[in-house]
Amino acid sequence: MLEKIFLKSNFTPEERWLLEELDGRIGSNCDFISLKTYESIFSKFDLKNKRIFDLGAGFLPISPQASEYIAALPSQNLNLIPVEINELRIRSWNLAKMENANPSESTINPVRGDMFKLPFPDESFDGGVSINVINNFRKLEAVPALLEEIRRVLKPGGFLILSSFGYYKCTKEGQVFYNNDFKENEIITSNLVQASAELVGFSRIERIPLDPAKIKAEAIRKEEIENRKSSDKTKVEMVEPFGLLLRR
Ligand SMILES: C[S@@+](CC[C@H](N)C(=O)[O-])C[C@H]1O[C@@H](n2cnc3c(N)ncnc32)[C@H](O)[C@@H]1O
Repeated sequence: MLEKIFLKSNFTPEERWLLEELDGRIGSNCDFISLKTYESIFSKFDLKNKRIFDLGAGFLPISPQASEYIAALPSQNLNLIPVEINELRIRSWNLAKMENANPSESTINPVRGDMFKLPFPDESFDGGVSINVINNFRKLEAVPALLEEIRRVLKPGGFLILSSFGYYKCTKEGQVFYNNDFKENEIITSNLVQASAELVGFSRIERIPLDPAKIKAEAIRKEEIENRKSSDKTKVEMVEPFGLLLRR
C-alpha cells in the first residue's frame, strides 16, 4: 500500500495554512469505489516501477479514507503523477515529501496541467485514475475528446479507472432541475462514456461495482436534503454514479 502520503518535514507559513485548509476537507470525498475493489483491480496489474496518473487530482488527501485508490496502490517503486489545472490544489500535492525519496519507495510528482492537453509524450503511462472529474464537464463532446487524449498517453494494455459520483436530480411540481444548475442535456452518462471509449479505441470496457455502503451513506445525505426541502415537496434522486475500467 502507498500507505501514508508522507509529508515534508518543514513547512513555510503558507504551506501550514494550506495543511489546515486540507484538514477541513477530510471525509468530504465521495468516491463510490471501495478500497477492496481498488485492491482487486490493482492486483490484476504489475505496478512495480510503473507510472500512474491521477487526472483532476483535487486536493492532496491527507487521510487514507479520503482517497482509497491511494491506499490500495503498492508502496514500492511506483511513480504517481497527480495532474491538476488548479494551482492551489496542485500546490497541496507538493506538500507530499518528494525530495530524497528512497529509490525503492513510491514517489509523487505533481504536475499542473490541463487534462485535455496532457503535457506528456505518447504512451508514457501504464495506467491511471480520474475520480469524480468527468461529471463536471457540461459539454458532451468533452467525453470523447478527453478519452482520446488519455488513450494517447497510455501504453498499449494500459488502464484507466474512471468514476463519477453522478448528479442530484430534483423534481418539484413536475419541473426537473439538477444540482449546480446542470441541464438534462449536460448529464454525462455511463453509456455515453462507454460509447466514446469504444469510439476512440479502448479495447476493453468493464463496469466497476460501486460500494453499496457508500451509496447508502450518500442516499441518507440525499434524504436529508429531501427532508429539508419537504416543505416545498421537492423529490431528490441520485442519478448516474458509475465506475468504469477501460484498457487501451
Ligand atoms: C470534483 S473535483 C475531484 C477531485 C478528486 N479527484 C477527488 O475525487 O476528490 C474535480 C477536479 O478536477 C479539476 N479539473 C477540472 N478541469 C480540469 C482540467 N481541464 N484539467 C485538470 N484538472 C481539472 C478541478 O480543479 C478539481 O480539482
